[in-house]
Amino acid sequence: MGKSDKKSLKAAQGSAPGGAGALLSILHDIMAESGCIPKERIPEIAGKLNLSQAEVYGAISFYRDFRMTPPARHVIRVCQAESCMSRGAKELNSYLETRLGIKQGSATPDNRFSVEPVYCFGNCAASPSVMIDGKLYGRVDAETLKEILDAIKD
Ligand code: FES
Repeated sequence: MGKSDKKSLKAAQGSAPGGAGALLSILHDIMAESGCIPKERIPEIAGKLNLSQAEVYGAISFYRDFRMTPPARHVIRVCQAESCMSRGAKELNSYLETRLGIKQGSATPDNRFSVEPVYCFGNCAASPSVMIDGKLYGRVDAETLKEILDAIKD
């Protein structure tokens, strides 16, 4: 997050009627209803809370829970923290990059898969850890990851 994003967030928190709670509550509601915050909704949100659109964008980019594009059908999260990285997560990243043609933090063009970095699942004893569609796997190697992904048919 850049300096200007922090400024926008502060401005959003300070000037929104009802404070940051009102803005966050609206953003959470839209996420729950649509799975993302469509860019077309920004002017409406800004108008409702008497904020600039930049302030709303600042808040969205500050919080990891918010996204402006629909989530991929299958979300792969690979732990990038120390224990997992030293025990094979780098190979998993390489495998995914080769198989899907995307890097951490992006999605395939058809939005079938996305790969998102996570910094510890609290599953370090079973490093490296991967979460796929909300299910946590431990001691994953490239072969296991291949089997899991091959089993996904849609
Ligand atoms: S370091 Fe990967 S789960 Fe903790």
